[in-house]
Amino acid sequence: MPLQIRKCKEHETPPMELLLLADPSLDIVEEYVGRGSSYIAELDQQPIGVYVLLPTRPGTVELVNVAVAEEHHGKGFGKQLVLDAVQEAAKRGCQTLEVGTGNSSVSQLALYQKCGFRIVGVDQDFFIRHYSEKIMENGIHCRDMIRLSQDL
Ligand code: COA
Repeated sequence: MPLQIRKCKEHETPPMELLLLADPSLDIVEEYVGRGSSYIAELDQQPIGVYVLLPTRPGTVELVNVAVAEEHHGKGFGKQLVLDAVQEAAKRGCQTLEVGTGNSSVSQLALYQKCGFRIVGVDQDFFIRHYSEKIMENGIHCRDMIRLSQDL
């Protein structure tokens, strides 16, 4: 059964446990879901992945909260989600898709670049300013937000 990716229905709550895999802050996740459009990836009608497209500036959307359930990591679903987000943003007529990830998120940086994003900037100490708890990943202190972008 192939992965089915669909837009969340109007009053449907996207799976929070998946969204929280990509961001430890419930407040930030709820804000993104409220402002953006959520997409759900299902296998046999069970949600196993999510992403949110967040309008930021005219012609620009940001991809936030891409996540795949841990038991399904490494099967290509994350890449399918990111490529679906690129197509969805283009279908909406957007010119630019942006994404951001921590300096410690080594595999996410690989994934986004494999899906056509290029690094355009670094927001130094973003995670120090916006998160109260220290984030460690791959033995690296997550401090800076790496900003990536692609023209659609
Ligand atoms: N070097 C090179 N390539 C790497 C890599 C590394 N260190 N780590 C991962 N990749 C590549 C994989 O090889 C694959 O590319 P390929 O298909 O060309 O081989 C690609 O990155 C992603 O693999 P995929 O199986 O599609 O990813 P996934 O289904 O495991 O999902 C995440 C990736 C990030 C969505 C998943 O790990 C997740 O949900 N993480 C928790 C939430 C999260 O961190 N979200 C992102 C917030 S910024």
